[in-house]
Amino acid sequence: MSSLANKQILLGVTGGIAAYKSADLVRRLQDAGASVQVVMTPAAQEFITPLTMQALSGYPVHTQLLDPEAEAGMGHIQLARWADLVLIAPATADFMARLSQGMGNDLLTSICLATAAPIALVPAMNQGMWRNAATQANLDILIDRKIHIFGPADGGQACGDIGPGRMLEPLQIIALTSQLFTTGSLAGKKVVITAGPTREAIDPVRYISNYSSGKMGYALVQAAIEAGAQTVLISGPTQLAKPARAKCIDVTTAEEMYAASLQEAQDCDLFIAAAAVADYRPTELAPQKLKKGDSESITLTLIKNPDIVASVAALERKPFTVGFAAESEQLINYARAKLERKNLDLVIANNIAENHIGFNSDDNAVTVIDKNSTVEISQRSKQQLARELIACFAQKLASQL
Ligand code: C5P
Repeated sequence: MSSLANKQILLGVTGGIAAYKSADLVRRLQDAGASVQVVMTPAAQEFITPLTMQALSGYPVHTQLLDPEAEAGMGHIQLARWADLVLIAPATADFMARLSQGMGNDLLTSICLATAAPIALVPAMNQGMWRNAATQANLDILIDRKIHIFGPADGGQACGDIGPGRMLEPLQIIALTSQLFTTGSLAGKKVVITAGPTREAIDPVRYISNYSSGKMGYALVQAAIEAGAQTVLISGPTQLAKPARAKCIDVTTAEEMYAASLQEAQDCDLFIAAAAVADYRPTELAPQKLKKGDSESITLTLIKNPDIVASVAALERKPFTVGFAAESEQLINYARAKLERKNLDLVIANNIAENHIGFNSDDNAVTVIDKNSTVEISQRSKQQLARELIACFAQKLASQL
């Protein structure tokens, strides 16, 4: 699977003749598995129509910052959060100037200011404009701010000049974009991740479960793969597509997840318990469907499930062990208590009282807690958050050795 699979790429198109190549770029990004939303500046719309980009991307094209209707749909902050990457192709000299000065005078610059995602620019302009000292000074500022610059290529230009300033070809852009999502920070490491809910059967047709979608765990799996880890996903039932480059073990109950986890954790370096495991299961599984009787209430007796992450943390060869704490009150206190009780190395705490994040949503905001520190990561997409968390785990793992 390409490292662009399931990535959400916001493609910014600014006003240069190379904008015609952006249409092909949308297609190529989609072929690599990414979803693409397009933002166009007014000048870009002089070169290529929003309708073309809408038809190719399958999304409405975003053009206005101060349009109440557009903001009521997906406004600049939502677009900034949606993006795993803001890719601007072509990027004109004027756009580079505005970005380097931190301006927010149109939709695209405002998104660039607001986003926590990486930004990549694919410059395209006349060779004289590229070589101009002002453009070069702006370029230095952008590079300093860790903005990725792809190209430009050298060669014949639309205006007849020859020199640097040609936009890279779509396939070259795809290759460089893919590299942004592979880090190598977990190369040679084995990572095991539990995800999704568990189901605890009551009778042949009923079960106890929870609302976990598995999205956070699956995003962590993808990020671990991108970081070069040999990755194992132990998943309860979810609607999500299985990642192609991980070993996937499907389980249903907490006991099955426990058995698979202890087996896989024996020789792993990093264990991440992102599953929402049912704490209890029915003491007995009714062999036949329970019939509705005359009585107004029935009693189910439940028994505690094994604590998977605590058992992994108790292994003689303990991996770096990370647990999640979904709490609706006293977030930090309860999460810290979990860290100690289960002997974890890190706890990722999220507040499920805020219903636009966490369980079953696309975004999350968390607090990373270890013995000595508490670090907050503000709201962003689960993919983006997963990459930041994996980078953080990789760094802690490396500093332990
Ligand atoms: O105790 P609590 O369920 O709140 O702890 C949450 C953390 O513990 C999560 O990381 C979850 O995956 C893990 N857990 C587990 N086995 C259980 C219960 C929770 O691994 N039986």
